[in-house]
Amino acid sequence: LFAPHRANAKGWDITHRPTLDEIDQGRTPFLNHLWAAAPLSSARGNDATSSPRAVLNPVNKKDTVGQITWASPADATAAIEAAKPWGAPVKDRADVLRRVAAAYENNAEELFAMLHREAGKTMLDAVGEIREAVDFLHYYATEAEQRSPTARGIWTCISPWNFPLAIFTGQISAALAAGNAVLAKPAEQTGLIAHRAVQIMYEVGVPTDVLHLLPGGGDIGAALTSDPRINGVAFTGSTPTALKIRASMADHCAPGTPLIAETGGLNAMIVDSTALPEHAVRDIVQSAFQSAGQRCSALRCLYLQEDIADKVIDMLKGAMNELHLGDPWHLSTDVGPVIDEAARKSIQDHIDTAAAEGRVLHALPVPDIGTFVAPTAIKVNGIADLTREIFGPVLHIATYKSQDLDKIIADINATGYGLTFGLHTRIDDRVQQVVEDINAGNIYVNRNQIGAVVGSQPFGGEGLSGTGPKAGGPMYMPRFAASVDYPDIP
Ligand code: NAD
Ligand code: ALA
Repeated sequence: LFAPHRANAKGWDITHRPTLDEIDQGRTPFLNHLWAAAPLSSARGNDATSSPRAVLNPVNKKDTVGQITWASPADATAAIEAAKPWGAPVKDRADVLRRVAAAYENNAEELFAMLHREAGKTMLDAVGEIREAVDFLHYYATEAEQRSPTARGIWTCISPWNFPLAIFTGQISAALAAGNAVLAKPAEQTGLIAHRAVQIMYEVGVPTDVLHLLPGGGDIGAALTSDPRINGVAFTGSTPTALKIRASMADHCAPGTPLIAETGGLNAMIVDSTALPEHAVRDIVQSAFQSAGQRCSALRCLYLQEDIADKVIDMLKGAMNELHLGDPWHLSTDVGPVIDEAARKSIQDHIDTAAAEGRVLHALPVPDIGTFVAPTAIKVNGIADLTREIFGPVLHIATYKSQDLDKIIADINATGYGLTFGLHTRIDDRVQQVVEDINAGNIYVNRNQIGAVVGSQPFGGEGLSGTGPKAGGPMYMPRFAASVDYPDIP
């Protein structure tokens, strides 16, 4: 449903799905490649405590993608001591960042394969991810040239696995554009992609004493956010982790050390009775199930006005039946696996509880490979029934009466989150009213509610969903700087 290349009866054979063995027969050598990763830095600690860990493909546990050696606490200390702000003139820094963008494009085949094999990304998502990473590099390079930032010092950049190239690159490139040193800590699930990205950055001219890669888990993240020598932290991940980092920085870092946190959401969409059902259903399916629901922006709680609820739910079941679950390397795959077994189990437990209570409205069959979760629709009374962010392909659906619109907006705001919000209506005054009343960083009207566009549609939340400034917007790179010129912002 999401893939642009959907086969048709006249074209390809849509009844034949290639097996994993057929796929592995070398469409690209990167489908069989083994990557090896380790900390990258001008300095390493002298405690060789870490041993390499195997990295497995989430769609096929027989596919070993490579191995990674995590950073040790001594590596983290050595990198902090060695980190040097980037003294090159801003024009030279911007040129290097543009060369990184070009090198990502030149290495796109390898990056596709890594996004597919390490992160379980579909083709559509992998294309979007590489393009977003390239856009961040160009955007922050240009922003830096225009605003002449001065460095704050050393930034810790901590990223999640669900955008392992785009968010990883976005944080780092903004910090580097401003002339800072960077300690980059990727998510434990996607260290190989991060390692390849930093290798590319070094190859085109980012100095090894400026950028340091410290792969590892939460302990390394904690070490890099509790050191008084850190001058700022950029974090993207879950809200509970952001709260831990804030507490740790308050205890250990100098007062006023900036924290940019982009976190989770309990994102709602309201579809009123004037909405065009087929349009709304297409956008609901994309918002809830693209990327297997593993987007911070994904739709978690859908409110349908009673008058059209039955019709929309019927059409939604039909549209869900059209989703292809399978190997993300197939162009026809709409929904790939979730990231790992822990994620699968946590999401599946939530679905099983709803099933035991008779609240599952619709679910799809699951392939018997990898860590898949069936796209599932669950009935709820309202958003207050969601006590945590379920980070997978699960859509919660509530119905409402027209006179209750103000109450459900109050309920959505009462969650304390404020990341994305969607509205489907054909009443202009309602758009004005709801957009004014809802607390959300990104509001999407009569379209799907995922995605953002670097430079023209910055992305970020409020409340429990983030501190701002929005990524991909004009205020983001300046937050990494001690000072900037604002020649064209009044
Ligand atoms: P997570 O919070 O578990 O981990 C994120 C990163 O924090 C990882 O690199 C992890 O190793 C590190 N970490 C864990 N404990 C730490 C600690 N005590 N100190 C420092 N670092 C620590 O999140 P995740 O599962 O990787 O990512 C999914 C989450 O990210 C979801 O909640 C999603 O909504 C959110 N997200 C938000 C945005 C956004 O732009 N708002 C974008 C993508 C993902
Ligand atoms: N920009 C990302 C999305 O929209 C976070 O899902």
